[in-house]
Amino acid sequence: MCGIVGYTGTEAAAPILLDGLSKLEYRGYDSAGIAVRNGTALAEVVKATGKLRNLAEKIDNGAALPGSCGIGHTRWATHGEPTKINAHPHVSGNATGSASGPVESDVVGVHNGIIENYEELRDKLTRNGYRFYSDTDTEILIKLVDYYYKKYKIGPIDAINRMMVRVRGSYALALMFRDYPGEIYAARKDSPMIIGVSEGAAYLASDVPALLKYTRQVYYIDNHQSVRILPGEAHFFDLNGDEVDMPLTEITWNAEAAEKDGFEHFMIKEIHEQPKAVRDTLNSMIKEGQIDLSGAGLTDEMLQKIRAIRIVACGSAWHVGMVSQYIMEDLAEIPVRAELASEFRYRKLLMDPDTLVLVISQSGETADSLAALRVAKEKGYATLAIVNVVGSTIAREADHVLYTVAGPEIAVATTKAYSAQLAAMYVLTVQAAKARGRISEEAYRGYLEELQALPEKIARTLEDKERIQWFAAKYANAHDIFFIGRGVDYAISLEGSLKMKEISYIHSEAYAAGEMKHGTISLVEDGTLVIGVLTQKELLEKTVSNMAECKARGAYLMGLTSYGNYSVEDSVNFTIYVPKADPHFIGSLAIVPLQLLGYYTSVARGLDVDQPRNLAKSVTVE
Ligand code: AGP
Repeated sequence: MCGIVGYTGTEAAAPILLDGLSKLEYRGYDSAGIAVRNGTALAEVVKATGKLRNLAEKIDNGAALPGSCGIGHTRWATHGEPTKINAHPHVSGNATGSASGPVESDVVGVHNGIIENYEELRDKLTRNGYRFYSDTDTEILIKLVDYYYKKYKIGPIDAINRMMVRVRGSYALALMFRDYPGEIYAARKDSPMIIGVSEGAAYLASDVPALLKYTRQVYYIDNHQSVRILPGEAHFFDLNGDEVDMPLTEITWNAEAAEKDGFEHFMIKEIHEQPKAVRDTLNSMIKEGQIDLSGAGLTDEMLQKIRAIRIVACGSAWHVGMVSQYIMEDLAEIPVRAELASEFRYRKLLMDPDTLVLVISQSGETADSLAALRVAKEKGYATLAIVNVVGSTIAREADHVLYTVAGPEIAVATTKAYSAQLAAMYVLTVQAAKARGRISEEAYRGYLEELQALPEKIARTLEDKERIQWFAAKYANAHDIFFIGRGVDYAISLEGSLKMKEISYIHSEAYAAGEMKHGTISLVEDGTLVIGVLTQKELLEKTVSNMAECKARGAYLMGLTSYGNYSVEDSVNFTIYVPKADPHFIGSLAIVPLQLLGYYTSVARGLDVDQPRNLAKSVTVE
């Protein structure tokens, strides 16, 4: 997803903008640009395709671009190719906009989001004398603001509000106006944006890591709000143009948490942070041997009233839902279905009125998950969000929110947030089971002990990483890898396969083990790697026999099981063991070797582990 930054204050803006953009690189991008204002000229715009260092080199890391007010952007192409012409910032004049240099326009801006009615807006603007130099919806958006600014002659906030009424789509938009030196104007709908302030300076960014080095005092701007930013101040306005007071929030993250701490990649650092992420998440919900969900407003009465749960999420968060489906039905005896958010939002929802819609999202900004949440709320369902980013849109719009405490997750491929989400779901499941009288007090205490033992067991799974690194090197040139399992093991296979795909670019599929013989086994040939997840004692023999069917057709078998299931070794070529744990929660251990396998395979292939091609950390487009 695109990243936007802004700064106005007494310091040189360009180095601060470049630093902020470097903290947003994890969001995924293919070009970058900044506009810095120096005195009365509107701004000097510099753009570059490729990595941020290409832009930094063009302006001598900012030294060649004087001025103390500016905006910046990393672009993840949606409308238009990743070219310099299409890179942001964009301008309101009819200049080419492609080259760097002084801007002969009244408005310059950057944007993260997608404008859905951009064609009708382009026609309207063309009829009013505007010309377009790029293929982007952003250029249209900025020219629309300019159009209202010139037509009504009231000012930036009025022009922005008129734009917001006219536009359909999503935007985090930052603008500078020639007539307002030293000021930045911004507006938001659905795309993430935060505003930071400090003594004599103000900042704007898509996400916390970009401004954490400069301030912890931030405002979360709401949808359809606009803001006037000047050194040390931020003034918010509603769609009527009336000023509104917004609460200032203290960010508690530490800046180091958003750095690599000596690890080669963020991903391997975050894999190693999993024991802490799980421990902190559990400890935020378990106090003195009792689960306490009152912070989320989840009372036992509410948990008793629920007649079904619909888990809605995307990607790895959906995989957490798939694990939860099995354990919630088994322990709490609540009907549960995990659905892809991008499917849920278009279905005819024939759900019991007392269904709880549970949205899982690390970023809290995923467009499909946010849309699904809104559909559920429109239809009157109770909603609960499990989110890692405090103050994110999904967290603020759900009826109830349970925060995971994984800290900032920078690598595009999620690991610690996934594990923290699993922990949160375990806690919710055990409390629901107790509230609904499905488990005894003794069993409740037993499950809590099992949960409290998970962080140390996860740490122990990390001790096997050298064997996994050796195995990853052996299979770094594989063409197809299958992950198979039954029940929770199938749900873990889904996540193991996605980790492999998204960072090593090797084609992989997760399959319910019993399904292989219904067609897919035709793909198995000499040397195909089949990884069986075998932690569920009463199911593993059946999966082992499915693996034998693959071996009979040439497959190389890796078994992933817990200590004690030593018979697995006799049936597979390579075995990974994880510590024993309750079968409901052992998925948190089994996933770690699969995360490491994907990571080391990507490293062996010399790929960009933290920023895999085509991917973004938070998919804020549909
Ligand atoms: C997981 O490694 C991917 N980065 C992706 O599938 C991710 O889980 C998905 O986009 C959902 O993101 P969210 O948790 O922020 O909503």
